[in-house]
Amino acid sequence: MAQERSQWTGRLGFILAASGSAIGLGNLWKFPYITYENNGGAFVLVYLAAIAVVGVPIMVAEVLLGRRSQKNPVGAFRVLAAGKPGGKWWQAVGFLGVLTGFVILSYYSVVAGWTIRYILLAVSGKLAGLAHHPAAMQSFFGEFLSNPWQQIFFHCLFMGATIGIVYFGVGRGIERAARFLMPVLLSILVMLVVYSFWTPGFGDAMRFLFRPNFSELTTGGVLEALGHSFFTLSLGMGAMLTYGSYMRKRDSIPRAALTICAMDTMIAIMACIVMFSIIFSFDFEVTKSSTILFTTLPVVFFQLPGGSAVSALFYVLVAFAALTSTISLLEVVSSYAIDELGWRRQRATLTMGAAILVFGILSAVSLGGNATLSDINFIGRSSTAGVFGTLDYLASNWFLPVGGLLIALFTGWFLGREASKEELEEGNGPLGWAFPLWRFLIRIAAPAAVGAIIVSVILGAEYQ
Ligand code: TRP
Repeated sequence: MAQERSQWTGRLGFILAASGSAIGLGNLWKFPYITYENNGGAFVLVYLAAIAVVGVPIMVAEVLLGRRSQKNPVGAFRVLAAGKPGGKWWQAVGFLGVLTGFVILSYYSVVAGWTIRYILLAVSGKLAGLAHHPAAMQSFFGEFLSNPWQQIFFHCLFMGATIGIVYFGVGRGIERAARFLMPVLLSILVMLVVYSFWTPGFGDAMRFLFRPNFSELTTGGVLEALGHSFFTLSLGMGAMLTYGSYMRKRDSIPRAALTICAMDTMIAIMACIVMFSIIFSFDFEVTKSSTILFTTLPVVFFQLPGGSAVSALFYVLVAFAALTSTISLLEVVSSYAIDELGWRRQRATLTMGAAILVFGILSAVSLGGNATLSDINFIGRSSTAGVFGTLDYLASNWFLPVGGLLIALFTGWFLGREASKEELEEGNGPLGWAFPLWRFLIRIAAPAAVGAIIVSVILGAEYQ
């Protein structure tokens, strides 16, 4: 007899763990970067619309599929698609999800490892010396990237922490970590926002973010906002589905999904406020490079009072955010091994974690050499930066959108209206008009928007 499925200890446990998954490098790194590239204002509005039209409905759908099936992504589609058109083929969507989790974690952990290096630099006082010379900072980062041993070491450290937490399971591992990490993360970010309020660039940052100028919006920008809404909410590969499978029946899915999306969006905006306030405080020519987090930002931190403390806090923030995300990625792969292969949790996390760690070494050592700094376009931009860039390109531009489209189509067109309604009202009460609205979004609007991303990728549209 199989063990009873683990559950979050309460409503908050799920919300913290799922927000932890959503809030990650995507919020603290990629969002400020693409907002900068797309000139703020109008892009931010489009992003908010993308979260509402694509993000929220798919988030609801994933959690629904998980809680209804009480399974990992593969099992969820097997159980829920039984007897439906296409039958067992839907399981492939689950497989794609588990594979995507494996791939994303392998390179995400490499970048997450950099944050540990930078925390050590900040705490040891070495960062202060480097940051006073922009050129030194730049070359430090370049050398760090092309040092395979350091890359492997910090990647292993981060994978070790991730495995160590997931090993202890849903309640004692994942939820406990999230209950500690998320409040700390929020407090650090609030402190940094308060700090940024006193910097001279605060006003410019607010204008940049909240004064839309639609003439600066491009089609590429719209597609990028759509694509990012996916990545930032951890959608399209069954992470939210897996976490949803541990959710209690008496809790409300729509309310939880809305809270998670709101938290994620709020954190992304706060990260922008902090970074732009600091950057706009100086007459600094910020190159549009995605590595600003590790090259330009430290330089700017130390132009301001309290640079050491601010930079140390900042990299701890990024590390914590990344950790709650890597945990969710490993949990998807582990839950698959536990449910489908019948492994014990300990064996599943250790084996899968080790496999991902080893596979990640390919990305870790691919960063030096041929790849120049500007090639490292983390999250879906470039397929030129070696294994790292290729995996990232595939996952962000192909696997996640295709997975998301299929999840939306399955939920909207195959699961059945009554089954969805029952699951969404369980623990929530009658949904009224909100249900038909969600049905419309998941059947028509979300697939159309995600379809547009996929078509643009097929046509080879460049995001830049
Ligand atoms: N959402 C995380 C971020 O913004 C990344 C992430 C974690 C993720 N789990 C995921 C992305 C699952 C896609 C799917 O950094």
